[in-house]
Amino acid sequence: MELVKVEKKETVALLTIDRPEGLNALNTAVLKELADALDVLARDRDLRALVVTGAGDRAFVAGADIGEMAELTREEAASFAHVGHETIKKLSSFPMPTIAAVNGFALGGGFELALACDLIIASAKARFAFPETGLGITPGFGGTQRLSRLVGPMVACDLIFTGRRLNAEQALALGIVAEITDVETLLDRAMEIASTIAGKAPVAIRNAKRAIYEGLCCTLSDGLAIETEYFSQCFDTEDQKNAMRAFVNKEKALPFKGR
Ligand code: COA
Repeated sequence: MELVKVEKKETVALLTIDRPEGLNALNTAVLKELADALDVLARDRDLRALVVTGAGDRAFVAGADIGEMAELTREEAASFAHVGHETIKKLSSFPMPTIAAVNGFALGGGFELALACDLIIASAKARFAFPETGLGITPGFGGTQRLSRLVGPMVACDLIFTGRRLNAEQALALGIVAEITDVETLLDRAMEIASTIAGKAPVAIRNAKRAIYEGLCCTLSDGLAIETEYFSQCFDTEDQKNAMRAFVNKEKALPFKGR
């Protein structure tokens, strides 16, 4: 059975976790299909942006599969976390921008999957939480690390210690969500944002993404050096020359070529 579906619309791909009867919970089979799909998409030279969502009207992803985790030994749990990390890392290090389109529950591993995307767009019905401590565990697919980097340790402690659920407005106020839409327009809006990004210069987008994330792990002055490197690389592209010459000559810019 296909648990992860990929559709391509021009230069944007839509990846759907498709296990709605289990609220798209991440079991080993889903993680394997997700990793394989991301490997294929990352090699697609025409792709300019990726939207990630969950099938059905109840959940983005309701977490890692609790049935599969219930009887794990410590060693097996470490290996399950390793598979989760490696899979979700394929998303966080995806070469082009990624947008999570979240409707319904994004819990535990589902919240972690969304946090690995560059942007989260939420429907008004989205609900975010880390229920793990109520199940006797910590988040294990990157939540303790990515949430605290995004919103700071105090908000991360609040959400992870209490397990309290955030609605879309609360998530927006904390900077976890970029935009809220109606349920009906969520996917169209996510695809629209992806298409806007797809219309920009691909090398500039790729380099901006690298500069933002690589700069987070170091001092400001090292980060500025990283920025200079990626900024100056753009001046080796035809796209930069064509776009700037068109502006200076008051001409219509040519479509970007990605080089
Ligand atoms: N792992 C495994 N199965 C899950 C799951 C998860 N994380 N989340 C939901 N499911 C399954 C349920 O077991 C149920 O399967 P069943 O129909 O075979 O019994 C199905 O999805 C529907 O969920 P159900 O609990 O019946 O729906 P609900 O509306 O009563 O509750 C939730 C929805 C999301 C509140 C509830 O499913 C829940 O709390 N899920 C676990 C969330 C969680 O703790 N995630 C972090 C895991 S570390």
